[in-house]
Amino acid sequence: MPDNWFRGIFPTEHERPVIDTSVAHSARVYDYLLVGKDNFAADRVAGDQMIQALPNVVTASRMNRAFLTRVVRFLAAECGIRQFLDVGTGIPAAGNTHEVAQAIAPQARVVYVDNDPVVLAHARALLTGPAEGAIAYLDADLRQPDDILAAARQTLDFGQPIALMMLMVLHMIPDADKPHHIVARLIDALPRGSYLALSHPPSDILPDSVAQVQQRLNAHLGGGASMTARSQDEVARFCDGMDIIAPGVVQVHQWRPADEAHSDGPDSIWCAVARKPQADVSLPG
Ligand SMILES: C[S@@+](CC[C@H](N)C(=O)[O-])C[C@H]1O[C@@H](n2cnc3c(N)ncnc32)[C@H](O)[C@@H]1O
Repeated sequence: MPDNWFRGIFPTEHERPVIDTSVAHSARVYDYLLVGKDNFAADRVAGDQMIQALPNVVTASRMNRAFLTRVVRFLAAECGIRQFLDVGTGIPAAGNTHEVAQAIAPQARVVYVDNDPVVLAHARALLTGPAEGAIAYLDADLRQPDDILAAARQTLDFGQPIALMMLMVLHMIPDADKPHHIVARLIDALPRGSYLALSHPPSDILPDSVAQVQQRLNAHLGGGASMTARSQDEVARFCDGMDIIAPGVVQVHQWRPADEAHSDGPDSIWCAVARKPQADVSLPG
């Protein structure tokens, strides 16, 4: 594997990204909910309608970012993970995966993956870190897991454990595109001892309000994109064949809160962290 830490943007040859500002985009609506500045009028209209249906959506988005920080710290500091494949990167915000990981382990290697042209336009901001580490950005669609794996191999060592980060992205894959198969395909390619971390909007917490959020967002999204909220059981199924780490499939603020003060919060988003077991458990015959 080349030892140059600056890995760049892949594929290196791509057409100039087309950014359609007349319709909402999930990355930019999320940026608006996080009080970012990389959003347009259509994103703000969609975001405001979501907030009207479920005011918690703003706090839940913030709590999801806090979960990202806690989970990357946990993986780097307590599990010794040094490689991260972060799918559905989002527009850079405070505490991106590489910043949290490389603060603990400067040699950490991070591959970001997103299919949004605005995220691509900001990718260069993600590509800075200590010389010991490596960061790459992959302009790719989660629905093409084999392309992601092939490109990720240029930066990550698939002989060593990798944390697959899928925070608030799987809801953008409708059932028709088989999100559980996609995750299984990615996990299958990772070595034993690897981790999956995910968060996902719930269909079974405040179901009427979340259904409204989904309907309103989907009415505004462009490019054929749509959101699908899922139940706790459906979220748990993404971890099939893996060991779910305590405290299990819980809401983001309930996952190993920093202290008692942060353990409480309004209803939010499902999350889970799971580990690919070291060996197949053979059941006694
Ligand atoms: C809500 S943001 C989540 C950002 C970050 N993971 C977090 O939790 O803070 C979802 C991101 O997933 C990206 N995304 C949506 N569908 C995708 C797909 N099919 N392939 C790759 N990225 C996708 C969007 O562009 C957006 O940047």
